[in-house]
Amino acid sequence: MAEHKITFIYGKNGEVVKNATFPSGILISEAASNLGIDISQPCGGQGRCGRCVVKIKSGNIRRRSTLRLSENDINNGFALACQSVIQGDPGIIIPEQEKIERRLTTDRSVSEVTIPVDYEFNNSQTIKRIPLIIPKPSMDDQTDDCSRFRRALKKIAGYELLDSSLHFLQTFGKILRESEWEVTAIVDISGYENGQPVKVIKLLPGIIEENEPIWALAVDIGTTTVTVWLVDLITGSLRSKASEYNGQIARGEDVISRIVYASKGNGGDELQRRVVDTINTLVESICKRVGINPDQIIKSVIAGNSTMIHLLTGIPPASIRFSPFITAVNDLPNLLASELGIQIHPDAVIDCLPGIASYVGADITSGVLSSGMYATDKLTLFMDVGTNGEIVLGNQDWLVSCACSAGPAFEGAGVVDGMRATTGAIEEVWVNNKTYEPTIRVIGGEKPQGICGSGLISLLAELFMAGVIDKAGNVNVTLDTPRVRQGDSGGEYIITFADATSTGKDIAITRVDIDNLLRAKASIFAGFSVLAEQVGVVLEDAEQILIGGSFGKYINVEKAIQIGLLPDMPWDRFQFLGNTSVRGAYYTLLEKESRARIKEIAASMTYIELSADNTFYDAFTSALFLPHTDITRFPSIEREMVSSRTTS
Ligand code: FES
Repeated sequence: MAEHKITFIYGKNGEVVKNATFPSGILISEAASNLGIDISQPCGGQGRCGRCVVKIKSGNIRRRSTLRLSENDINNGFALACQSVIQGDPGIIIPEQEKIERRLTTDRSVSEVTIPVDYEFNNSQTIKRIPLIIPKPSMDDQTDDCSRFRRALKKIAGYELLDSSLHFLQTFGKILRESEWEVTAIVDISGYENGQPVKVIKLLPGIIEENEPIWALAVDIGTTTVTVWLVDLITGSLRSKASEYNGQIARGEDVISRIVYASKGNGGDELQRRVVDTINTLVESICKRVGINPDQIIKSVIAGNSTMIHLLTGIPPASIRFSPFITAVNDLPNLLASELGIQIHPDAVIDCLPGIASYVGADITSGVLSSGMYATDKLTLFMDVGTNGEIVLGNQDWLVSCACSAGPAFEGAGVVDGMRATTGAIEEVWVNNKTYEPTIRVIGGEKPQGICGSGLISLLAELFMAGVIDKAGNVNVTLDTPRVRQGDSGGEYIITFADATSTGKDIAITRVDIDNLLRAKASIFAGFSVLAEQVGVVLEDAEQILIGGSFGKYINVEKAIQIGLLPDMPWDRFQFLGNTSVRGAYYTLLEKESRARIKEIAASMTYIELSADNTFYDAFTSALFLPHTDITRFPSIEREMVSSRTTS
């Protein structure tokens, strides 16, 4: 096959030049990746987002798709790195890559996490620490080290069956001798009552003090963010926590883009490495903060959506994407840290919590556990909205769940001036209903660069309540204000004029943006409606609405009701619980009962596949209006609209 020399030019001022020879036909993105040059691929290389654009300075390439490029762009040499293959010896300029500004403040406060009241290490834990004084070998007793160790463990703790890794066998003999046969074993007995062997995790020299911490991790792998909590199992206390953007973001912003990317070449391996790198970076930072070595961490419980768990474990997630939408596995056996490359103790137990279905994963079972909805007699609606909307309805007697493909609109994607909730994002908007002038709040207080999810919800609500848009989302371009104009796809509203933005361009909401937001909110509300209908309850009878995930942290309930994203209920029924997924991982890390319970939750929850439900489409189309086709479902908004009409 013909080969071509590719020259990449990048860096802030194009000062870095790298070249290499590649076979003809290789994608630009692939060649760059082989040379360790990062080109962001937010849609996973599907040619949908247009954000992997590069400029061809010289030589030949072939554009397979130009979906996101204008004729002008093509004439000026622009190409999508994920959709263009090499045909000559091209020189390619890679623009500065979008940086993810950090709004993720690693919240160091750990006080609000309460240790379960009845937590007691000896009774609650499946991890045991056993001091052993082992008779030394002699010419009269030439029993091998391993049998000697087993005998001592049986005598002191009564455990008959024992399992250990090759790594343990390679290292334990030295520890026994160096410590004069006085050691402390850390073992996991989680399967012992079911006839499984006790797993030896670690052998420590000497007899360890009873109150000396045993370190473990609770982890939540979100599509956007990874969160790690460091826990002392002896006291049950949370000692440190940290969050970071999931390193996979550069290869897809939503789960579908990640699945697509994972299906190509070594994409799966790369995504596995990226998320493990994120976890390792977080672990290193919290260990440094607390003054311990990552090697001292002997267990980790991990929650995450089904795609994230598949990618972490290197299991191909392809089947999640296609009908009949099934996972490879919902409930994994315990794994070893060394198998996944997580840099804690190599024999540390990795317990990935069980999920239910492709789009209702362990983040939700974990959330149902930590929110307490599984144990209440109150009719409860639990939701976790991120790049997907996952919803559970029920109480202690029954639980039904579904997933709505809301898309990432509420994370600022799919909206022309949308952005993540980072510095420069408009996060709240108020619109004067007489002058139609907006007042905005910007993260970081600087000039705005775009608008994030919470800003979009508040903008949509304000525009609707002020009469700038009608219930179908049409902008009234006849209003006497320079804020409205006719755009390519319909009416637009300008939130900030170019002279006041950091980009020098207007920040506006377009008809297409409004449609994307309406579809996202309609999908979630239709999910609520279908679940309620399936079990024969009235949605508005829910006694509490529990909202997990970072989404809930910033949204304003009043505005979310005004656009018909949340059901119209008294505000005191809504509770924002933060990261319920990592909290559930924390509880299961501590208490064997919680671990058993989460399995029960996963086994008992009924999953409703919305794409197979005829009523979903009707519910969705009814919810495409502001706040809803049937305004009687939103009586408080109806009252507000009537009163604003009579007072204006
Ligand atoms: S268009 Fe290339 S990554 Fe999205």
